[in-house]
Amino acid sequence: MSDCFDKQFEKIHAGKFTAAVIGLGYIGLPLLLRFAESGSEALGLDVDPAKIDSLSNQKSYIKHIPSERISAVYDKLAFSTDFEQLQKADVIVICVPTPLNQYREPDLSFVIDTVERILPNLRQGHVISLESTTYPGTTEEELLPRIESSGFKVGEDIFLIYSPEREDPGNQNFSTQTIPKIVSGHSANCLALAQALYDKVCDQVVPVSSTKVAEMTKLLENIHRAVNIGLVNELKVLADKMGINIYEVIDAAKTKPFGFTAFYPGPGLGGHCIPIDPFYLTWKAREYGVHTRFIELAGEVNNAMPDYVVEKVMLGLNQQQKSIRSSKILVLGIAYKKNVDDMRESPAVVIMDKLVKLGAVVDYSDPFIPVFPKIRNYYFDLDSVALTAENIANYDCVVIATDHDDFDYDLICEHARLIIDSRGKFKNDNENVINA
Ligand SMILES: NC(=O)c1ccc[n+]([C@@H]2O[C@H](COP(=O)([O-])OP(=O)(O)OC[C@H]3O[C@@H](n4cnc5c(N)ncnc54)[C@H](O)[C@@H]3O)[C@@H](O)[C@H]2O)c1
Repeated sequence: MSDCFDKQFEKIHAGKFTAAVIGLGYIGLPLLLRFAESGSEALGLDVDPAKIDSLSNQKSYIKHIPSERISAVYDKLAFSTDFEQLQKADVIVICVPTPLNQYREPDLSFVIDTVERILPNLRQGHVISLESTTYPGTTEEELLPRIESSGFKVGEDIFLIYSPEREDPGNQNFSTQTIPKIVSGHSANCLALAQALYDKVCDQVVPVSSTKVAEMTKLLENIHRAVNIGLVNELKVLADKMGINIYEVIDAAKTKPFGFTAFYPGPGLGGHCIPIDPFYLTWKAREYGVHTRFIELAGEVNNAMPDYVVEKVMLGLNQQQKSIRSSKILVLGIAYKKNVDDMRESPAVVIMDKLVKLGAVVDYSDPFIPVFPKIRNYYFDLDSVALTAENIANYDCVVIATDHDDFDYDLICEHARLIIDSRGKFKNDNENVINA
């Protein structure tokens, strides 16, 4: 055991440490607050000055994270865009994006850029934890050599952790504190520090034997979702043709107390994780000559769902002697899932784009997204339409893309001329409803 390790372990075990979190998005911000709430000094760093400004003024920019949570622990918090501040920290947690590039390959540029910014500010004793989702091998192949190039020995001077984030934004039943935390370290010292650190902020810490195991665990979890959603989406299409309501089937199947987990169909995959993460493994698998067919197939089925919804819109309008061209269509819910304001990779936006390209006049309504923001690949100059009886009745068709709890479904059902429901909100046979 090195002196440096003993000192850091003591500090962290006693809860007398400063934790810096880099990347204050959906994952980093709640984690930062959790460090502050558990009594540590917490330093939030981001490259986006607008976010730092907002947080410095005790204002959350994420709908489901109330500003009051920031105010409650403000004396423990500091925010900055200046990476030199890292010199004051004992622990550095990296929560930056890990998207795919235009060739659907892992884009680690945010992680690498962050490491490059940390390096000049590295000091003996720093504990570095990567939380971004990534392929097995990233910590060892990308972080370790860069850190050791600065002259420090990982495991003795610097301690390297991989601990995947499992946050489910908007889920009231689970939080950063109550979700069991997988932790791993590059060496036994690193793992011991990982356990001591996350013990302070999480109720249950689950150590695994290597960073690769932890990286693969996160991917297994998300691939499990992507593949099962793909399966149920495929069965939805079949059940529909057979005149069977897939939701009734799922409700019946889930009464089995073992061996079945319910997954629900929808208009396609959305969010920063499920449509993206599986392809991190697909890419890495090629290095080993393995073709990950389940992942590819699930991707194919799930990516086809927006077209399926558009086809249902076409059929519904057709029954009323109308075409998509020139029809007024209102898309309900453009966030990627209900009750959040995150619209990354949202299938609702893909559906809007396809409808517009077919000549429809498209609007949207989403209480979480008052103005359509600038996002990658798509832009609509639109504000959210208020859901009044008059507005609903004004459209030829209403598409339920995301089933926010705030929507008044009785009002929608009463006044919409045609509802294309991709979320199973209307399970009974209403005359104006088509399940999609
Ligand atoms: N959102 C989720 O539900 C979720 C769940 C589990 C895991 N994850 C993983 O967590 C990671 C972060 O995701 P997120 O949803 O919080 O992303 P996000 O886009 O909400 O937040 C990332 C933040 O990092 C900042 N950033 C980008 N580059 C930076 C840099 N070089 N230095 C400092 N800050 C930088 C951005 O400005 C942004 O504020 C990803 O790997 C993601 O796969 C996300």
